[in-house]
Amino acid sequence: MVQLTLPKNSRVKAGKKFPRADGATRRKTFLVYRWDPDSGENPRLDDYEVDLDKCGPMALDALIHIKNDIDPTLTFRRSCREGICGSCAMNIDGVNTLACTRDIADIKNAVRVYPLPHTQVIKDLVPDLGRFYAQYAAIKPWMQTRSPTPQDRERRQSKADREKLDGLYECILCACCSTSCPSYWWNSDRYLGPATLLQAYRWIIDSRDENTDERLDNLEDPFKLYRCHTIMNCTNTCPKNLNPAKAIAQIKKLLVSRMM
Ligand code: SF4
Ligand code: SF4
Ligand code: FES
Repeated sequence: MVQLTLPKNSRVKAGKKFPRADGATRRKTFLVYRWDPDSGENPRLDDYEVDLDKCGPMALDALIHIKNDIDPTLTFRRSCREGICGSCAMNIDGVNTLACTRDIADIKNAVRVYPLPHTQVIKDLVPDLGRFYAQYAAIKPWMQTRSPTPQDRERRQSKADREKLDGLYECILCACCSTSCPSYWWNSDRYLGPATLLQAYRWIIDSRDENTDERLDNLEDPFKLYRCHTIMNCTNTCPKNLNPAKAIAQIKKLLVSRMM
């Protein structure tokens, strides 16, 4: 029988309320998802009040302040703090985004921070992205060639062909799009999801790659590609303003055109 409610042990409960930011003139409440696999307890939402004059302007700055000065047990990923590495992807104020580029000033009420949705949580805000990376590896994200490597120069590309990679090469594999996609939620074991498909398209249309047909053969599958139903969550949420839904549509077009 289909279970339509969450199992009791996964319901998010009210968590700890940490001391208020005494003396602060600019303050903000952060409600942060916490789950410790070793405790055996339900997930909870901890309540922190942050003095905004003690941290930088972005949500990640507040999380770092919480970890450094209020609660060192809070766990999350981050590295570059510049929107480049993709590791601080999480759900903030109901939207998948990068904590390091999400301006606290743009969030009206308390800031609700959860891990990327529909992922297995390792701890607190850290999702298990093992399957996501395995899917990325499966599309062979490197240039494949058959012709001999030129001895005296790089493999060249016209300006027009290079421009075809714009809007694709900027993807930082943060997984915000895939984890916002309902088709990926339900079929992530077989559907590759928008991030991996955008990356697949990046190599399919690279004029220097010589395995285009094999790449397309690999995607011609009712699940790997055709689970995309153009719901557009992926494009709406991408923090780099990319358009994975368009890339998926382009792959479908190429598959149709090679049948003609
Ligand atoms: S397409 Fe955008 S949201 Fe998706 S992984 Fe790449 S950068 Fe992240
Ligand atoms: S357009 Fe396709 S990939 Fe993007 S959210 Fe919708 S179903 Fe998922
Ligand atoms: S810390 Fe690298 S993208 Fe946010």
